[in-house]
Amino acid sequence: MTVADVRKRYLDFFTKRGHTVIPSAPIVPENDPTTLFTSSGMQPLVPYLLGQPHPQGIRLVDSQMSFRADDVEEVGDNRHTTFFEMLGNWSLGDYFKQEQLPWVFDYLTSATEGLGLDPQKLYVTVFGGDAESAMIADSESVEIWKKLFSEKGIAATFVELGTEEHGNEVGMQGGRIFSYGAKKNWWSRAGVPSKMPAGEIGGPDSEIFYDFGLPHNPAFGKECHPNCDCGRFIEIGNSVFMQFIKQTDGSFKELPKRNVDFGGGLERLTAATRNNPDVFLTDVFDAARGVIEARSGTKYEDATRSFRIILDHMRAASFFIASGIRPANSEQGYVLRRLIRRSLREADKLGIKDAVLAEVAEGFGNAYAEAYPFVHNAAQTIREELEKEETQFRKTLAQGMREFEKMGNTIDAFMLFTTYGFPLELTEEIARERGLTFDKAAVQAKMTEHQALSRAGAAQKFAGGLADHAEQTVRYHTAHHLLLKALQSVLGPDVHQRGSNITSERLRIDFSYGQKMTPEQLAEVTRIVNEKIAEALPVTRTVMQKEEAEKLGAEHEFGAQYPDQVSVYSVGPATATSADPKFSEAYSIEFCGGPHVENTRELGANGAQFKILKEEASSAGVRRIKAVLE
Ligand code: ALA
Repeated sequence: MTVADVRKRYLDFFTKRGHTVIPSAPIVPENDPTTLFTSSGMQPLVPYLLGQPHPQGIRLVDSQMSFRADDVEEVGDNRHTTFFEMLGNWSLGDYFKQEQLPWVFDYLTSATEGLGLDPQKLYVTVFGGDAESAMIADSESVEIWKKLFSEKGIAATFVELGTEEHGNEVGMQGGRIFSYGAKKNWWSRAGVPSKMPAGEIGGPDSEIFYDFGLPHNPAFGKECHPNCDCGRFIEIGNSVFMQFIKQTDGSFKELPKRNVDFGGGLERLTAATRNNPDVFLTDVFDAARGVIEARSGTKYEDATRSFRIILDHMRAASFFIASGIRPANSEQGYVLRRLIRRSLREADKLGIKDAVLAEVAEGFGNAYAEAYPFVHNAAQTIREELEKEETQFRKTLAQGMREFEKMGNTIDAFMLFTTYGFPLELTEEIARERGLTFDKAAVQAKMTEHQALSRAGAAQKFAGGLADHAEQTVRYHTAHHLLLKALQSVLGPDVHQRGSNITSERLRIDFSYGQKMTPEQLAEVTRIVNEKIAEALPVTRTVMQKEEAEKLGAEHEFGAQYPDQVSVYSVGPATATSADPKFSEAYSIEFCGGPHVENTRELGANGAQFKILKEEASSAGVRRIKAVLE
């Protein structure tokens, strides 16, 4: 089947069962500053899973554009992609396990309405319980699966595996239904129950795997089992029984209504219908693959890794650019830039010397013309943006490479970055290929410092000479640290930063907390911040190893990645060295590039007082505060 066939059959199947088709939400989430990309079908539906009524009703179905930046490095095997479509169906407090599992099974196996997959090739997993969060095993799903497989004349043996390691030890044992612990069969956006922040929703899940029948590769463990990574089994669908919400005290509460959140990888399902595990051989990649073959004179089979990286990245880049993202040095734009640069590096390895990316992307515009006309319609912009970035980066690469060659065995990665814009990861990759080494931690520390300085410089520059604007922004940076700490003192230690935005006019913080703050809590937070301003506390910057900063309990933003050496700002009694016991007495310690004021008294310049303008919901379990110094 084609990707379009699988998508259409799914939407039709669930429409027939009372579901309303909803359009895919944008790839850049609306009104959710906590994350750069939509990475699952449920993400845009969180308010409704929490209980808010959805205008389209209680049974929904869609195919959601999704992007997982964490998977960038994984791309290259037969099944990982950064961009993908996730088929999803939802029960918002309506049907539950008894309907969901038979429907999914039917969709997968019915030749008339569904995909006609051979049920002999399907294996399923269920939640085996989690002692840490006191969550019990899902025996109900085991019974449902037993019935479904038995009805097809398939022995429905249930095997408890617990962990992947155990699975690799003991193997399949003739099983059809397997249970694993929270690491594999509990789903929330943050992972296992103990990792979930307060306000996050999750629940036990039941996954379906397709057996592609490849021989087990013992490099992944002695024996094979559904969650083994050797490539024989590929997960094609996951029914999450979204029924719990994490509380601020770490316990779990039942949601007002039990929901179903199903996610199925569209490309993987299509691969299953072709009985070929390589998702890059599904039809949406055909045209683009053809372009790379023609331009490189190399067959896909002979350089699969490079082909897959370019194919994955250029598809994502097409959707990104059509969605309004442009190459840049931060946030979504940085991810786009990285996708383009990685692709170029692979094109280089394939010996393609002239601009090629725009031509590859054109293949995707055509492949998605019907399902996503906005990508097709943006063809010209996609071409222009890719050509511009490719030309610029090819120049950088060439200059950087010339410098690189001159350096011999001593690679100055910092100079390559600052002077030629040569990415550290690229230097690393080439150094690795050539067996060269350099002190990565030292380079990263220098880069952190460099970025902080250029950010401070940029703040001055963009303030257009109005130095007081830049100074005010810096004051807000420091007030932001005081505010986060005060929120933790008043609301509890589970409060962490989930996003921030600072201008010379005001500061904004998004933080994890499940409820509206009371007027008393707001007044107390305000009082504390003003007290810390009045105490005239020193603000100190220290560069230290990441682990050391973590040991000190330095705050960092949820989901953010940091280098091995980090810049840390402390407010309150602290000296320049973290070894000094005084450091831990600091009022606030945060991972931060700065810049900051030298003393909190500067926040009270001209009699200014800290004031909270607004406290409101930002997204599920996340509140937002806007505040000023006036
Ligand atoms: N939300 C579930 C997932 O992303 C279905 O796997």
